[in-house]
Amino acid sequence: MRVSIVGTGYVGLVTGACLAEVGHHVVCTDSDESKIQTLESGGLPIYEPGLDGVVARARKEGRLKFSRNPKEIVEAGDAIFICVGTPPLPNGDADLSAIDHVARTIATEARSPKLVIEKSTVPAQTGQELKRALTVYGRKSGISFSVASNPEFLREGTAVSDFLHPDRIVVGVENEASERQMKEIYAPVLERKFHCPVHAPACPEGPAPTWLVTTISSAELIKHASNSFLAMKISYANMVADLAERLGADIGEVVRAMGLDPRIGPAFLNAGLGFGGFCLPKDLQAFVHLAERSGVDFSMLKEAEKINHKRIGRFYEKIKNSLWVVKGKQIAVLGLAFKPNTDDVRFAPSIDLIEQLASEGAHIRAYDPEAMDRARAVLPNIDYAKSAYDAVKDAEALVIATEWDEFRKLDWDRVRNSMARPLILDARNLLSPRAMKAFGFEYQSFGRPD
Ligand SMILES: NC(=O)c1ccc[n+]([C@@H]2O[C@H](COP(=O)([O-])OP(=O)(O)OC[C@H]3O[C@@H](n4cnc5c(N)ncnc54)[C@H](O)[C@@H]3O)[C@@H](O)[C@H]2O)c1
Repeated sequence: MRVSIVGTGYVGLVTGACLAEVGHHVVCTDSDESKIQTLESGGLPIYEPGLDGVVARARKEGRLKFSRNPKEIVEAGDAIFICVGTPPLPNGDADLSAIDHVARTIATEARSPKLVIEKSTVPAQTGQELKRALTVYGRKSGISFSVASNPEFLREGTAVSDFLHPDRIVVGVENEASERQMKEIYAPVLERKFHCPVHAPACPEGPAPTWLVTTISSAELIKHASNSFLAMKISYANMVADLAERLGADIGEVVRAMGLDPRIGPAFLNAGLGFGGFCLPKDLQAFVHLAERSGVDFSMLKEAEKINHKRIGRFYEKIKNSLWVVKGKQIAVLGLAFKPNTDDVRFAPSIDLIEQLASEGAHIRAYDPEAMDRARAVLPNIDYAKSAYDAVKDAEALVIATEWDEFRKLDWDRVRNSMARPLILDARNLLSPRAMKAFGFEYQSFGRPD
């Protein structure tokens, strides 16, 4: 099938590359010309494990192309996925102006019927507005448009695998023809008829993805409801961690036992600095606003948001209690990305924490395996180290802000010997308190006994 992708960020690029990988002919565009330039010259504008190989193969085999020309994109696809950003407005609502802009381009450039698919995360009822916009902007051409919602559940860091091996594919449609088109797009994924770039030589046995056809509003609601639930789960675990800390219990033991209950499950129960990234914080906010606008008092979501905001303050207190005076202290920060295996620093708690420490006069030397270039754009005035060992040299405290696996495996004797004071403040509960004490560190984390 001929597919077009508008927006080649994390979601658009993974969607385009994976749909090309499974056999479709895909053309992608982005309003940011530098991204298209990078892609055309064989580079990737984002770090995502495994994506480079998928993009390179699909390009070589002629199924994946990039273009700066919106007209070409609209002509190229029978189905057009909208994967643009939906960032928060100052009031917390989702900014849908990029979606509106894309709708105008599609409606004015289309010369044949199109299926326009929302893959960006949008509030319920956006599909209706999108349909109306396409009809209004395209009224002179008389071309018909169908709209579908296909929320994306991939996680940065494991996005290729998540896209090709999803547990469910949700499609919200307005008619049977759109349902058939969506099924055709996803047939290779549903039937696992592709050469898997993640698992060699063969994918592990497992249940096929569940194919869920819903109304457009339900599909939109499913995405916001899922992300808000995950955010609440993290905030819940963080509150239990605070309680565990007061009562001398160990949050690691508590959530492990909780997670073994299949009604609860182990994911998203890690206590720490709280959630960040381009999805949970903004989707939670947008969901709160949607509920308010709809006259529903969903105040438990506001609590989850409030708890998350307070995590940085809670951790800052730990730093202050350990260092006494923060001003003038040399602090090593390991981890800048909002989570491991990505270079994404959008709404990363590490960034807020560093800003607070720097504003109090601490000297920060930070290191992240992948996110340093992106961090430099938002934190230009701190020092960046070449490695974790370089970061900790002469530091009076080491803060772990992102749980990259490579930080778990550091040579801790070497780290201790090069620090001015062997103090670790672990905001992600990455390390074992007992092991760190055995290495001779003072060690602080969340919700675990000293
Ligand atoms: N990142 C994730 O893990 C993830 C997961 C699921 C869903 N989502 C949702 O998917 C959407 C995209 O997220 P992302 O992380 O890929 O964002 P992103 O910022 O990485 O990518 C969005 C891209 O859209 C481009 N763009 C903006 N306006 C445009 C326009 N008018 N025409 C063409 N291109 C335009 C931007 O230049 C950017 O490259 C958001 O709604 C997000 O909530 C993200």
